[in-house]
Amino acid sequence: MEVLIHPTKHAACTLGARWIARLLRQKPDAVLGLATGSTPVLLYQELIRLHREEGLDFRKVTTFNLDEYLGLAPEHPASYHHFMQENFFQHVNIPRENTHIPDGLSTDVPATCQAYEDKIRQAGGIDLQILGIGGDGHIGFNEPSSSLSSRTRIKTLTERTRQDNAPFFANPADIPQHVLTMGVGTIMETREVLLLAFGPGKAAPIAATVEGPVTAFVPASILQFHPKATLLLDEEAAGLLQRAEYYRWVDAHKPTWQRV
Ligand code: F6R
Repeated sequence: MEVLIHPTKHAACTLGARWIARLLRQKPDAVLGLATGSTPVLLYQELIRLHREEGLDFRKVTTFNLDEYLGLAPEHPASYHHFMQENFFQHVNIPRENTHIPDGLSTDVPATCQAYEDKIRQAGGIDLQILGIGGDGHIGFNEPSSSLSSRTRIKTLTERTRQDNAPFFANPADIPQHVLTMGVGTIMETREVLLLAFGPGKAAPIAATVEGPVTAFVPASILQFHPKATLLLDEEAAGLLQRAEYYRWVDAHKPTWQRV
């Protein structure tokens, strides 16, 4: 696990966007796994800037989002379909048919989830997965106690996650109880992971993820077993890491060929 600590989330997102741009230059038809929530918004803004100002090309890219609320139509302002459209897809040249998000209106959840897994496999697997992290250590919507080998499926949100996501809903009573989410096992099969975390609310789950034991109680901790997981943090999210100085030292002494 590589831990990169930046002074600000702007700096971390600029690096994250360069990371993705490097992948797209090497592999223009790369498959990206995408996240929603407040964390990746700046990353998407930087990717949009690279598209507009430097011609970063998404024409051949395929995307799979982590999750969607069950019961929300794509047009619902709090749906992740709507979020992705507003914050990313409509601003770059990715063909609509190349973008995939679990169907929140599914009437046959097991079949929908199996089809999602099949589509990821048919696309050749995910080259690079963007992740945020919940205050309780969730990735995707794999809440604490999720099976570490789980696949795309229905999950019940904890009350804490529902409250964390309340600002996106006009009426708190409208926050769905259920979601469809890629599983922890699905995420672990991606070839590379970039996990972003910013702000003091992420310090505890980040410390548990990087320096705690691997446990289903902190689903992100399974990333200790991922062959290529990088954490892009700001100072606040790194605030409880015991070995922060070592991670900074490693970053400062990286060989030039490893730098993005
Ligand atoms: C979103 C997702 C979630 C969020 C996490 C953090 O697609 O899968 O795991 O990344 O809940 O949310 P924010 O970024 O809003 O703090």
